[in-house]
Amino acid sequence: MKKTDALKDLPFPLRVYRQVPDDSGHGFLVKFAVFLKDRPGSLADFSSLIARSGGNISIFHYDRSTDSSRVVVEVEAARVEDVHDLAVSLAGRKYAFERKGPLSDEVSVTSPENILEIKVRLRNEPGTLAALARLLKGHKANVMYMLYDGDIDPEVSDIALATKGPEEIDGILDTLNGKGYHYRVVYRGSEGEKVENIIGLKAVEKFYMRLLKLLDKKDVSEMRKLVDSSREIYGNLVKFYSEAGNNLESADVFEKVLTLASMSRSRLGQRFRATEMSPLEPAPGVRLHGFRMPTSENIYVFENDGDLTMVDSGYGIYYRDIKRLMARKGLDASRVRRIFVTHADADHAGTSGYFTEEFGSEVFMHPDSRGVISSGNRAHGTGGRLARLNKYYTRLINTFTECRFPGKINYFKTKPTGSLGGFDIIDSFAVGGLKFSVLSSRGGHIPGHVFFVEPSLGLVFASDYMINIASLSEEEKGSLGVYKYLLTNPNSNHEIFKEEVAALKEIISSLDAGLRRQGLNALVFPGHGDYYAFAGR
Ligand SMILES: [Fe+2]
Ligand SMILES: [Fe+2]
Repeated sequence: MKKTDALKDLPFPLRVYRQVPDDSGHGFLVKFAVFLKDRPGSLADFSSLIARSGGNISIFHYDRSTDSSRVVVEVEAARVEDVHDLAVSLAGRKYAFERKGPLSDEVSVTSPENILEIKVRLRNEPGTLAALARLLKGHKANVMYMLYDGDIDPEVSDIALATKGPEEIDGILDTLNGKGYHYRVVYRGSEGEKVENIIGLKAVEKFYMRLLKLLDKKDVSEMRKLVDSSREIYGNLVKFYSEAGNNLESADVFEKVLTLASMSRSRLGQRFRATEMSPLEPAPGVRLHGFRMPTSENIYVFENDGDLTMVDSGYGIYYRDIKRLMARKGLDASRVRRIFVTHADADHAGTSGYFTEEFGSEVFMHPDSRGVISSGNRAHGTGGRLARLNKYYTRLINTFTECRFPGKINYFKTKPTGSLGGFDIIDSFAVGGLKFSVLSSRGGHIPGHVFFVEPSLGLVFASDYMINIASLSEEEKGSLGVYKYLLTNPNSNHEIFKEEVAALKEIISSLDAGLRRQGLNALVFPGHGDYYAFAGR
């Protein structure tokens, strides 16, 4: 067979990079990608096939985290016939050279204890990689990552594996020892390791593993059931992580808040713990209660003339527990007449729809919340590169925390009637003798965020613009430090947010200065953490 004929007839698009015999006797260099099944042993079968054709693998790259079926290889062959034979045998085994159907993303690795990452020394000769892959196949280990590049180091391969259980890891290491392999363990699953550092894991698997650090196994498997119950939810999670890959820095915050929010699912009923702030009597006949939910967000309840007015409403999933909490405190949930919602994030608006449905409570929000709610995207209308990340995040967090908006919302007026510290005053409402102004933010945190300010008494409901982390207990802050990410806020526009925070502090500071002459202080009511007297803070 002539060389050119042999290469012309290749049944697959093997790219031939070199076709001149060299000193090493490997005159032909071909490179190609194939699509395998994501199951133990498929890499072993594939590499054995290459070895049998006389080919020597010079590059082998498989990374299940980006594509669970694609392998890229570079193979050196001595003769043109070897290249041809390799192509024919691959064709005979029905290996796919292009993807058939959509990228499947089934998730199967759920425990970091089952994972092993090693660097193994290999003899630089044909068939050694295949022999190693067969050894791993014998232990039914699923290869998650494999990199061998002869140009970088002809005697080393990096491999990450998911085994059936932690005891299987010992079995694999014993077998490697028995066969005389030299290796170094880079990672073997343990609690202390950062799941982010595990190579070859899919993002969704990392999500479940992070949850395992916050929740017990049963809660995580409930969570998986919820995600698996709907293609839409699962799709949103996969798309969220694929967007996260494009926006690493911001995604980190979103991801952590999402993980934290998922914790709400394990804090219900018997496990629901709310922190009560000291009740206040800001005006005659008006009592103000503040409660912090187990995931740190606050709800505030004004009591006057037997009627209740709420500011913000907590994650939807807490609805039943909030009603029980109110009953214990002598607050009749059926008397919740109005809920003033600072913004359409699930932690502040989540139960509003339930109150409306059960008790006919009227809910008030900024009209810009309309687009956020209808599109299921907290960055609705803001454009920008984080819009898609925000979209999947919003949908997931709303689903996980069972957010429900009312069918009918009362929107604040938007025509400015004045201004305070650079913010437009757009509306007002009264609670007994308290007269609140509704200030419109410029959208740094989320479109349609408002602040409620009672100027004569210096009461400022600042929600996510003024978070009081110092008041959270050590347990609430969490040994894992997840709460600090809540305080980094997934902002729509962080630059505007920072300006707004500064402006808000100015307002509070000047209200405080006026009140101090009467021996009083401005009081800040944050979205998370206890209310506090400003007193120059
Ligand atoms: Fe928020
Ligand atoms: Fe919040």
